[in-house]
Order: sequence, then C-alpha cells, then structure tokens
Amino acid sequence: WRLFEDDVEAILRLKRERNAVILAHNYQTPEIFHCVSDIVGDSLALAREAQTVDAEVIVMAGVHFMAETAKLMNPTKRVLIPDLRAGCSLAESITAADVRLLRERYPGVPVVTYVNTSAAVKAESDICCTSGNARRVVESLGSDRVIMIPDEYLAQNIANETGIKMITWAGHCEVHERFTPAEIRRLRADNPGIIVLAHPECPPEVVAEADYAGSTAGMSDYVASGKASRVVLITECSMSDNLAVQHPDVEFVRPCNLCPHMKRITLGTLRHSLETMTHEVSIEPHLAVRARQAVERMLAL
Ligand code: 13P
Ligand code: SF4
Repeated sequence: WRLFEDDVEAILRLKRERNAVILAHNYQTPEIFHCVSDIVGDSLALAREAQTVDAEVIVMAGVHFMAETAKLMNPTKRVLIPDLRAGCSLAESITAADVRLLRERYPGVPVVTYVNTSAAVKAESDICCTSGNARRVVESLGSDRVIMIPDEYLAQNIANETGIKMITWAGHCEVHERFTPAEIRRLRADNPGIIVLAHPECPPEVVAEADYAGSTAGMSDYVASGKASRVVLITECSMSDNLAVQHPDVEFVRPCNLCPHMKRITLGTLRHSLETMTHEVSIEPHLAVRARQAVERMLAL
C-alpha cells in the first residue's frame, strides 16, 4: 500500500514538474484510471482530447498506436509511451505495403483503416475509424464496397449492420477473438436477466448473442444510463473494474480476457517514464502529413 501511495504521489508531482498530462484508455487498471490520469476514454475520445492538450508533455497510458495518434493530433507536444512493448495484435497484423497491394487489387474502392494501426498504415488510407464511429465513417463514403482493415470481425459486424460489402483483412484482437457464443449462453444461463455488452472486435457470432455492441465508451454510457442492474462486459478485464468503482449499485459479472499490451503500463512504468522522459514517440514527417489527414477526416465527421 505504501509503495502504491509512493508511486501515485511521485507521478502527481512529476506531472506538475514536467508540465505533463496522462491520457488513459478505458482498459487501464483502476489505480491508473482513477488515481493519476487527467483524461480517460475510448480511442476516439483520446484522439479528440489529444488535440486540445495545452501541457508540454502527453504521457499515453495505453498502447503505441494511441500514442502515435496523439502525436499526429498535437505534433508540437512531447508524447511519451511508458513501455515500447505496449503494442496491439491488430496493429501488428498489417503493413503499409499490404495496403498498397489491396489498393492495386481493388482500384477505386475506398480504404477505411481502424485506428489500431501504425501511422504508416494510416498514411495509406482514405479515412480512419474507431469502434465508436465505424458505422458512421463507412456510411459517409457513399460506396457499396469498402476496404475495411485490419479487423476482420469489426468489418463483418459493420457489414451486418449496414449491408455494405466489406473487403476485409485477417487481423484480430487477441483479447476479443477468444470470446465464444457458448460462453455468452452459459453466462445467461448462470445469471438470469443479465445484460450482455460486447465490443465489436468480438466475432460476429458473439456480437449476435449480445444485447448491445459498442466501443468501450459505448459500453460505459450504457452502464451509466441505469438500464441494467446486472451486466457482463465482453471485453478487457479492467473495463468492469473501472466501471464498478463508478457504479457501486450495478452488479458486474466478470469473466474477461486481459490485454497484455495494455498491462505493460503500470504505476511503475508511468513513474519511470516521467522521471526519464521516455519513450518519446516520433513519426516521420512525410508519413505524419498523410496519416493526420486520415484521422482528421474521421474527426471532422
Ligand atoms: P475503443 O476504441 O472501443 O476504446 O477500443 C480500443 C481497443 O483497443 C479495443 O480493444
Ligand atoms: Fe489491441 Fe485488442 Fe489490446 Fe485493444 S485489446 S490494444 S485491440 S490487442
């Protein structure tokens, strides 16, 4: 407990000394989410909020693509990621060369790239999306065919909602791909009346079993709406832990899968990051210009 207090105090002091803010994703553990962060949210909110940060330094309590997006959105700031190994299986699944090949194969078909990608991949795209705005982004293109990459399940889920034909890529989130429809059915049988909220990175058969599918912010809003007294969040473990602190009246059933990348960020690595001002994120200028356009198009919608 004393070590915990020591880290929290040190981080709060270092933030003042360095003129830094901590942006934290909803999958960060409660002590990060509730005790040291300045701004919390889903990937969409973090991208938006990064634009308006005044402080000199942004520390991303999240994964690498989120830090890159913050840098794209506010390029004059120093953006730090506490652990360079905080990656993402989706971002790892595709390269810029892959996107160029897809364009050659499907000329004229618009390319929508999930934000869970490198800046180099974003730079090859027409527009980005997050799980919070994927449907709106896809529908805004007015095309009956879209290349939607790299999350195969998100693309299939949006195709099911919109009827738009998706050219997909075989990228998956290593956390959400592990949930199964049988698991949801078992949860319902064991917990009568439970409301099931699922992230759209889950396979379509899992989403089909849920009462609601949406981004981490969407799930959070659903719980805040008071519509459910007993819920299960089919997503990363820390989501329920964070929401349970804010909604003590709601019962959370908590089977979950951990994201090993998100869990690279700890109070210890955050403190070290602020002490040593590491690891600074930089993006080659020629890539940054094009990647920023794809993110800005999304934010302009
Ligand atoms: P959200 O945009 O819904 O926060 O999701 C980000 C993510 O990494 C989900 O696995
Ligand atoms: Fe990537 Fe999945 Fe982890 Fe999100 S939860 S950062 S999509 S691996």
